[in-house]
Amino acid sequence: MTTNDLDPIVANARQAFAKARTPTELENAKAHFVGKAGRITELMKGMAALSVEEKKSRGAAINAAKQAIEAALDERRQALADAELHVQLKAEALDVTLPGRMREPGGLHPVSLTMERIELIFASMGFDVADGPEIESDWHSFTSLNNPPNHPARSMQDTFYVDIKGDDGIPYNLRPHTSPMQVRYAHQHIKKFARRVKAGEPLPEIRVIAPGRTYRVDSDATHSPMFHQCEGLWLGENVSFKDLKVVFTDFCRTFFESEDLALRFRPSFFPFTEPSAEIDIQFQSGPLAGRWLEVAGSGQVHPAVVRNMGLDPEKYIGFAFGMGPDRLTMLRYGVNDLRLYFDGDIRFLRQFR
Ligand code: PHE
Repeated sequence: MTTNDLDPIVANARQAFAKARTPTELENAKAHFVGKAGRITELMKGMAALSVEEKKSRGAAINAAKQAIEAALDERRQALADAELHVQLKAEALDVTLPGRMREPGGLHPVSLTMERIELIFASMGFDVADGPEIESDWHSFTSLNNPPNHPARSMQDTFYVDIKGDDGIPYNLRPHTSPMQVRYAHQHIKKFARRVKAGEPLPEIRVIAPGRTYRVDSDATHSPMFHQCEGLWLGENVSFKDLKVVFTDFCRTFFESEDLALRFRPSFFPFTEPSAEIDIQFQSGPLAGRWLEVAGSGQVHPAVVRNMGLDPEKYIGFAFGMGPDRLTMLRYGVNDLRLYFDGDIRFLRQFR
């Protein structure tokens, strides 16, 4: 054998290594050349018959070939490892130009902003803020408010009822207005000051607003089955319709930040007030200027309601009103569809942040 027979082996090894697509294939290919039964090992064994001189030169040549093969092997190993790393990096690649998943700062819902504003303004006029149940008894929603069963005035409101009956055998309702809070709050108030009254002191005036959710079978661009109301009640020994006018005018002008806002008290009917009035407002400038817009129902608390509060209607007199914060929000911000409030569309809500 001559040294020339080694070059094709090295060339074959290079070719075989280049063909290997994975580390396993490469190790298999390696076995053919430098493994226990590989070509190089075979050639080594074949040296046994050679002379000492021949062994020296032949051994050196075989070793050189072996080193060349091992170098080729290392090179290919490295190439395969690099390729693998490249694939992995590509798979885990981060596109740093993608916009991040931001957590936007939250904000209050426009109707909540209105509620807060209403509470703030009335608090500044000495009104307490009360909260009450949304699932209400028939007595509180209707009968106590001078609206007995089968009275035609009940059809003024298309009410949702629930499957639970009260002590009177009449199902509970989802309150169609916040007016039940008039009687509820009066009872609380009387209880709170019972000791003082017993000791001969006068009962402090009731001055309260009660904002909250209300429900009616109603659904279009300006009505939602769930909506908001804010009740107001001012009751004492010397409270008159004039006070209602002053308080409500003051409220509207502060709420809309408009000193020349006009108010109109238009005769109306509610079972729980007598006389009753719808309150309309009119802007003097802006896109709604000149139109009368209804914002609240109101009136002097009916003597039957005062009696149901546990008070003497000969002694206590006052007024109540109920307004729609949803409507007030629409007017203040120019929202034209009530349903936007409840869609949860962030593009709408973000404008009020
Ligand atoms: N509760 C009435 C309604 O829902 C509004 C109202 C409240 C009217 C208080 C008079 C007094 O329409």
